[in-house]
Amino acid sequence: MPEWFQAGAPHIWLPYTQMQTAPDALPVVSAEGCRLRLADGREIIDGTAAWWSMCHGYQHPAIVQAIHEQSQTLSHVMFAGLAHESAYRLAAELAQLTGLERVFFSDSGSTSVEVALKMALQYWRNQGKPRKSKIIHFTHGYHGDTFGAMSVSSRDGFHTAYDSLTTRHFQLDIPEDEYSMAECTDMIAGIADKTAALIIEPLVQGAGGMKFHSPDVLAALRSLCRDHDILFIADEIMTGFYRTGTRFACEEAGIMPDIICVGKALTGGHIGLAATLASADVFAGFLSDDSQHALMHGPTFMANPIACAAALASCQLFAASDYTEHAARIETQLREGLNPLRPLPGIADVRVTGAIGVVEFANAPTDIFALRAECVKRGVWLRPFGTCFYLMPPLVIEQGELQRVIDVTCEVITDWSQRL
Ligand SMILES: Cc1ncc(COP(=O)(O)O)c(C=O)c1O
Repeated sequence: MPEWFQAGAPHIWLPYTQMQTAPDALPVVSAEGCRLRLADGREIIDGTAAWWSMCHGYQHPAIVQAIHEQSQTLSHVMFAGLAHESAYRLAAELAQLTGLERVFFSDSGSTSVEVALKMALQYWRNQGKPRKSKIIHFTHGYHGDTFGAMSVSSRDGFHTAYDSLTTRHFQLDIPEDEYSMAECTDMIAGIADKTAALIIEPLVQGAGGMKFHSPDVLAALRSLCRDHDILFIADEIMTGFYRTGTRFACEEAGIMPDIICVGKALTGGHIGLAATLASADVFAGFLSDDSQHALMHGPTFMANPIACAAALASCQLFAASDYTEHAARIETQLREGLNPLRPLPGIADVRVTGAIGVVEFANAPTDIFALRAECVKRGVWLRPFGTCFYLMPPLVIEQGELQRVIDVTCEVITDWSQRL
């Protein structure tokens, strides 16, 4: 292990990690394209795209250059009362891409969800309807780790230790057929007068279990919200920027949300930035002679110029080549490659959509770290959790590299299954 690792490791607290039993993290010294170079000289392919963000690959020259250039002139400035070009250009670009007029920048996906929830609650309060104060959210949903975001994530998920501190909202199951849709419709009608907004990860619920639902269900939920004066919040932090195939997952369902959260791939995964986009109508709900009707939020590093410059460069890369095609190619390869795992003992499901492949175990493996270590030994970084073994590579991954990720997945899961 390098000297810096040994010096720092006793002081590091890792995310989502039982520090008493977890193995050491892998020291990474550099990265390029889809590959990470480890301190011991090994190169491994990243099958997770740095928690689903590194869509154009690591160290993309155009993004690195944009970061470098921006850092030469203005690396940061406060955003309350001072303006800078990268943020203003990016806001116009995002408004054009999404069709939502107003952009509120922040520094992480969780914060962008907090902002979306605050927008929704205050929108109704400003209209003299403070009773509309609850949020509809879904089983298996995950919207981040801050308190508002946890309170609208699945209640049986990662955050049960904090139950007493999170507000209870309305958790529903995503409908799967006409009967559950009828039930859901009745339920939403019954709670509409208390509900400010519905929040959903469109088409794919990520960290809460990698569950998929259809564009039709998404469109039906959207129209229920319209019928009942409930704001529709699409959390596209994971799905946005072509992960599910289209630029935004909502486009596949042909719907326009009232509020959209984006993060992760917004900067091509190179640096932290998130945004909450709101419709002209939501924005208008904050205009008033009363200063208390203003949106009370303002992170220190909101709209950081370096991050905005990276995001602009990323938008240009998306415009310059066909990412729908990249996602479609990955989808085909994942479908064919993962299919043989379907009949194995211990496998509950294999599912693929866009550039997302999921192998679901019937029960969570007891030693998930051993599975991760087996992947690394074979030259691939994958990070299965709970019952999910997922593949979400950079969207630019080459066919040969993706095949390696698939082959390693199949080998490791087949070995595991044979030991059951
Ligand atoms: C759908 C979704 N929402 C919110 C978040 C939180 O984003 P961040 O980790 O940037 O706070 C995530 C992160 O995984 C996510 O997948």
